[in-house]
Amino acid sequence: MNYGSYRYTRAEIDLNKLSYNVNKLKEKLSSHTKFMAVIKADAYGHGAVEIGKHLEQLNVDYLAVAVLDEAMELREAGITSPILLLSPIEPDTIPVAIEHDIAVTVYSKDIASAVYHHAERMQKNVIVHLKIDSGMGRIGVRNKEDALMLCQTLKSDFIHIEGIYTHFAEAENLEDPTYTKKQYERFIAIVEDLKHRGLDFDITHCCNTAAALAYPEYHLDMIRTGISLFGYHPDETMTKTIDLKPIMTIVTHAAFIKDVEAGESIGYGRSFITSKPSKIATILLGYADGIPRELSNRWYLNRKNEKAPIIGRICMDQLMVDVTDIEGFSKDNELVYIGDPAEGYPSIYTMADMSDSFHYEILCGIGKRIPRVYIKNDTVEVKQNYLLD
Ligand SMILES: Cc1ncc(COP(=O)(O)O)c(C=O)c1O
Repeated sequence: MNYGSYRYTRAEIDLNKLSYNVNKLKEKLSSHTKFMAVIKADAYGHGAVEIGKHLEQLNVDYLAVAVLDEAMELREAGITSPILLLSPIEPDTIPVAIEHDIAVTVYSKDIASAVYHHAERMQKNVIVHLKIDSGMGRIGVRNKEDALMLCQTLKSDFIHIEGIYTHFAEAENLEDPTYTKKQYERFIAIVEDLKHRGLDFDITHCCNTAAALAYPEYHLDMIRTGISLFGYHPDETMTKTIDLKPIMTIVTHAAFIKDVEAGESIGYGRSFITSKPSKIATILLGYADGIPRELSNRWYLNRKNEKAPIIGRICMDQLMVDVTDIEGFSKDNELVYIGDPAEGYPSIYTMADMSDSFHYEILCGIGKRIPRVYIKNDTVEVKQNYLLD
């Protein structure tokens, strides 16, 4: 519901930059390699429906999400692209996946039997991707005998085993590729064994972003990229491997500004006491919006290269920044929490380190109550809704 167009805080998501990132990634692929866009966890906090619609317009081959509710959200929004569920599906929800043409990951005898049962009962086609655990230790079968058993269990006119895949545990470890290579070899040995038994797959896949960038020889039939769509590398050490543009900027205007004397305390627990007369701005962002509380008294918001240090403890819904040193600061000024370093904003990698977190976690944790504003082509009209009169 729209209660008025102005919000103090918003997340601007630039779909032009999403197109840029997809194109940059596609440049790395050979013409036969498909592109799967991983948009689980609400597209890593960016809003799965809008991101999914845009990716569909960009003709990506496949979308992937973790759970059925995420897939259904996309289907209900009118997205018709193929969708793969990467995480375990609850057996009693398999009919919903079948009904809505959502491909299912099969990783155990139980799930294979449940898929077989529902496909036969519904007499409706279902697409399946087999999951091999080559060393991630999460889900999947771990040897060729079990992989064969899955294929046998799934033998039905209604089941198409379209794909087989695995997931790397540390493809971003550029210093030591030993484990990734071992995982790849284990995976390929199983795929080859099944092939010799006459079991062939349309789509064999293993590369997340890190592997797609570090091991072009592992691209196979499709890559599965998540973080890079949104403009970030899997690890800061990979920034030189591809140019990406962060697509989200979290922008805020101060909701309240006050002058205080030296010696005043700010926030819960009185963890910050002003050392001089100060100008303090209250910002509508808190740990419920995904700002790590560990950043209290340790991080800052930015107006380009000018810093507004976070002072006092970050509250659930608000935080305070010191704007004394930003000349002429007013409610008209924008402050940025997350933005593109190329535009002068600080690194999310450093921020994640400071809060003992991980940039994926920071992005996924950005709360739903921050309105997402999508920018496409000409940005001005969309943005104006959110500017002060
Ligand atoms: C099975 C699987 N494939 C691909 C990805 C995408 O990984 P990334 O965001 O590092 O590209 C994920 C994300 O965690 C995943 O779980």
